[in-house]
Amino acid sequence: MPEASAHPRPAPRARVTLHPDFRRGAVDRRLFGSFVEHLGRAVYTGIYEPGHATADSHGFRRDVADLTRELGVSMVRYPGGNFVSNYVWEDAVGPVEERKPFLDLAWRTVEPNLVGTDEFLQWAEREGVEPMMAVNLGTRGVAAAAALVEYCNGEAGTRWADLRIANGRVKPYGVHLWCLGNEMDGPWQIGHKDAHEYGKLAAEAGKAMKLVDPSISLVVCGSSSMQMPTFGEWERTVLSYTYDLVDHVSMHAYYEELDGDRASFLASGTAMDRFIDRVVASADAVGAERRSDKRITISFDEWNVWYLESRFPGEANLPIQRDAPRIIEDVYSGLDAVVVGDLLVTLLNHADRVPVACLAQLVNVIAPIMTEPGGEAWRQPTFHPFATTARLARGEALDVRVEAPSFPTSRHGDAPVVTAAATVDDDGTLGLFVTNRSDQVVEVELAHVGAALRLTEGWQMVADHVPAVEGPDHAAKVAEACWSAVDVASAVAPAAGGTTTLRLAPESWTAFGGTFARA
Ligand code: AHR
Repeated sequence: MPEASAHPRPAPRARVTLHPDFRRGAVDRRLFGSFVEHLGRAVYTGIYEPGHATADSHGFRRDVADLTRELGVSMVRYPGGNFVSNYVWEDAVGPVEERKPFLDLAWRTVEPNLVGTDEFLQWAEREGVEPMMAVNLGTRGVAAAAALVEYCNGEAGTRWADLRIANGRVKPYGVHLWCLGNEMDGPWQIGHKDAHEYGKLAAEAGKAMKLVDPSISLVVCGSSSMQMPTFGEWERTVLSYTYDLVDHVSMHAYYEELDGDRASFLASGTAMDRFIDRVVASADAVGAERRSDKRITISFDEWNVWYLESRFPGEANLPIQRDAPRIIEDVYSGLDAVVVGDLLVTLLNHADRVPVACLAQLVNVIAPIMTEPGGEAWRQPTFHPFATTARLARGEALDVRVEAPSFPTSRHGDAPVVTAAATVDDDGTLGLFVTNRSDQVVEVELAHVGAALRLTEGWQMVADHVPAVEGPDHAAKVAEACWSAVDVASAVAPAAGGTTTLRLAPESWTAFGGTFARA
């Protein structure tokens, strides 16, 4: 973005205030989850490719696993997504040579069933990520869901647990977090239901699953997006059946730049912020009517930039395909990465009510990691803000006060030019994340009250105009043009009287690491 013009506008100014005593809540590590669905090349030639030069003895790509670790992913949701709503998990356990392919109707793809529950859970265990499983409440129901929990978590001596043992895995996997279906409000979902049908089924399936293993936590499906015509009413109805049983209600949201409306796209974090507030209000209204002290929290188990309306033809228009077709492999820009960074700011600012979130997805499908079959694996621009936030955001989220001018957007009304989130660990380690959504440099006065602030590292993503083409070369060009270390000494004016001045590049997302400790 050009900084200079014939009639330069005065640089907007903003003030961000940090106080060590003003806190929102602990940052749950599960906020840095991701998602692997049997969709396109997420599994086959994504995490799994037996013939690949880096494949381990189980057929999983080491290069992808290494990037997953570098990304800082804490948890991975599996196996869908829309895919789960017609999945027969029993067909993908046991001897691989006896498994039969099936036609997945969600993505109109022949699923070879080479990777199933055991392969995924063992991969997750080897890579040190927590699995989050979903059960099929589209074409199936209570019995299959309870059987899957028993297969995963049961001790020897009952049918499904013994099947797992016969398949070579003695120790229960201990999967803790379970989704009761996926996007059941969506007419595209195989086995789509209205809120009463789904609420009753989710309550019965969840009850049976918890009878198998009372230690599990359940996620009930909220709306697929805030634009759904049933939004609000759906949450109220579904929670009226499941409030006492579940821990979380799900949220899904994807953002994209539509019709060249860059301002609205840059304000996506504001839309996410309002969406969270509304779902929290809906859940609390159900709790209030029940005079319940229980608080339902959010599992934001699908979020990302996805060019859904502008690039995706729709599931029903996909031809039937096999052999890991390329489906929704969006190529990201620096601008997309700035928005992803800003969405992370929003999530951190809701740490008290959002303990779980999954960047959808992990590899190849709208993903931070891309691969070529038989070839390289590489980082998309969106990789960097996620990895940096997962690394620097530790401990508790501070209740950061931001005073900033706003700018008009056609989709989300007025939105603040600057957003910020901060975290502090017990030892005073600070993570600070700031977005400048304006097309001008913004000067931010960083007021630090009650503790001494020291910034020791900084990383910045700026929006770019590098044309999007597929492949590692593009990702490398964007990274070179848009992602850089901040020279902390020159970016940050010396502290004076408890304030520090940050100069933020136009359309940028910046992360700082440092300390914020009382003397
Ligand atoms: O992440 C891609 C798809 O988006 C998921 O399968 C579905 O849950 C959502 O609509």
